[in-house]
Amino acid sequence: MDSTVGDAVLHLSSATSSRSQRGYDRLALWYRTTEWLVFGNRLQRARVALIDDLQPWKRLLILGDGNGRLLEQLCVKQLGFATERSSSDAPSRITSVDQSLRMLQRQQARVELVHASEYVDLFQADACGYKPEIGAYDVVVTPFFLNCFSLAELKSHLPHWLAALRVGGVLLHVDFIVPQSPWQRPRAKLLLWAMHLFFRWQTGLANRQLVDTQSLIAQCGMRMECEQISEGGMITTQIWRFAPWSS
Ligand SMILES: C[S@@+](CC[C@H](N)C(=O)[O-])C[C@H]1O[C@@H](n2cnc3c(N)ncnc32)[C@H](O)[C@@H]1O
Repeated sequence: MDSTVGDAVLHLSSATSSRSQRGYDRLALWYRTTEWLVFGNRLQRARVALIDDLQPWKRLLILGDGNGRLLEQLCVKQLGFATERSSSDAPSRITSVDQSLRMLQRQQARVELVHASEYVDLFQADACGYKPEIGAYDVVVTPFFLNCFSLAELKSHLPHWLAALRVGGVLLHVDFIVPQSPWQRPRAKLLLWAMHLFFRWQTGLANRQLVDTQSLIAQCGMRMECEQISEGGMITTQIWRFAPWSS
C-alpha cells in the first residue's frame, strides 16, 4: 500500500504494529519539543556535524530518522550536488526506512518543504526484518538509531544493514556514548538513565544501558575515519568507511 502527497511516495507496511512502533507514533508530535527542552539544538548540531565531509552519493540509506531533521539537511546537500552534476548523470536517491508512520509523515513534509520529494523514497518497515540490497549504497546513516536495539539484536541485524554499503562506501553514525572523562560521567549517566527509563516506558525499550556499538561496527569490516564528540562527551558523530581489505 502506498500513500502519495505531491511527489513523495510513502511505502506503507501492512504488518501489525509493535509496541515500539506505537510508542514512536505517539511521541512523534512532541518529539522535537521534548528534545529541545532537554538538549536545545545540540542533538541537531551533532546530527549534521559531519555531513559536509560526505562525498556526493548516488544512493543513500537512512535508518530510523524519526521526524526527518537530518533527512531534510541531507536533501539540501543532495540538491546542491545535483546542481554541480552534469544533466546526463542519473539523479541520486535517498531511501529512508522507519517503522513509525507518524514519524515518516513528518519526514515527508520536511522533504517537500525543501522540494526534494522526487529524490526520496520513504519506507515504513521494521528494520529487524529489513535486508537492504547488498553493496548498493554509497552512504548509510544511523542517527540515534542503533541504541534502540539490544546487543543480541545488533549482532544479528547490523551486518545486514551495513552489507548495504558498497566497498569504499561510508557509514554516518550519530549516537549517545558514555564520556571518557570521569568529570563528565555523572551528568551523562543521569541523563542516560532518565532517557532509558523514558523510552522503556513509552516504546518498550529493553536496554538499560548503552550498547557498545563501536566494536560491533568495526566487526562488520568498517574503519573509523573521523569522529566529533560533543555535549560534554556524551554524543559521538562518526564517519566509518567500509574497507574490508584493511581489517
Ligand atoms: C530514538 S529515535 C531517533 C530519531 C532520529 N533519528 C533522531 O535523531 O532523533 C529512533 C527512531 O528509529 C525508529 N525505529 C526504532 N526501532 C525501529 C525498528 N525496529 N525499525 C524501524 N525503525 C525503528 C523509531 O520509529 C524512531 O523514529
